[in-house]
Amino acid sequence: MSSASSTASHFMPFPATKIAEGVDSLYAFLLIASFISCVLVIGGLIWFAIQYRRKHEGQKTAYISHNTALEFLWSFIPFVIFMVVFVWGWIIFHQLRSMPKDGLEIAVTAQKWSWTFTYKNGRKAQGTVTVPVGQDVKLLMTSADVLHSFYVPAFRNKQDVIPGRYTALWFRAEHEGEYNLFCAEYCGDQHSGMLGKVKVVSREKFDEYLGTEPYKGMTPVQIGQKVYGGACIACHGVKPGDPQNQGPSFYKVFGRVETLADGSTVTVDENYIRESILNPNAKVVKGFNPIMPTYAGQLDEAEIMGLIEYMKSLQ
Ligand code: CUA
Repeated sequence: MSSASSTASHFMPFPATKIAEGVDSLYAFLLIASFISCVLVIGGLIWFAIQYRRKHEGQKTAYISHNTALEFLWSFIPFVIFMVVFVWGWIIFHQLRSMPKDGLEIAVTAQKWSWTFTYKNGRKAQGTVTVPVGQDVKLLMTSADVLHSFYVPAFRNKQDVIPGRYTALWFRAEHEGEYNLFCAEYCGDQHSGMLGKVKVVSREKFDEYLGTEPYKGMTPVQIGQKVYGGACIACHGVKPGDPQNQGPSFYKVFGRVETLADGSTVTVDENYIRESILNPNAKVVKGFNPIMPTYAGQLDEAEIMGLIEYMKSLQ
């Protein structure tokens, strides 16, 4: 088993599905066929230019009107190659788009700028989706705001996520590991921060994961830190010197007196943080734009309380 995930490489990331291997084979074929064609065409060009150059003043070019056999071959051979590429690509595309009938189904909600995953038993996860190795997984996806795109390079698979309708994507990961998830549709200025992970684990580990409480044995601060990592991190810093991306830093935010856009002030306490999560644009801090989406319905009370306690801990 190869180690998956985030190391940079010169070629495409490790293929974690059979289809990804198929895509790579087709890609390799295209690359090699293009290389051979390039050598033949450019090499032929150079060879002909030298071989048939004008050798003395007054030399006349031979009169050749056509050559049926040659013209047939240089049309038919590329035609066959292009048809191979077409059929091969069509087969892979068909595999990508044929949804499994009895796969594990997970609901995905995209929102500026985070991913929320909901399992059939109500288990929710932010940012990282955990799936079992060697099983068909179908993602049923929608967006709470604008167009996003679910893209896992290791699966060579990508699907737009659209507000107001469902789209689907499936995969069967053959290797355990953690694979990067990107948003591949420009969705606002923290688009590049809309990152996640697909964590592929053994069947046993997955059953255990699905069966446990999401935050079993975790303190509120740890819960808040986890939620932060899956959702708030795209816009809010937590350390001195973190860039103030799109929202105020959480560092020493609790107890701070903030000046709002309308000039009034507010002391950051539990209720202000709660309001800012559920109704973010009610009281926007001066100097920031009212761009944060609501997390009402996305986060439960334990998670909101966790975030509040996490912010308190950042002193
Ligand atoms: Cu979401 Cu780009």
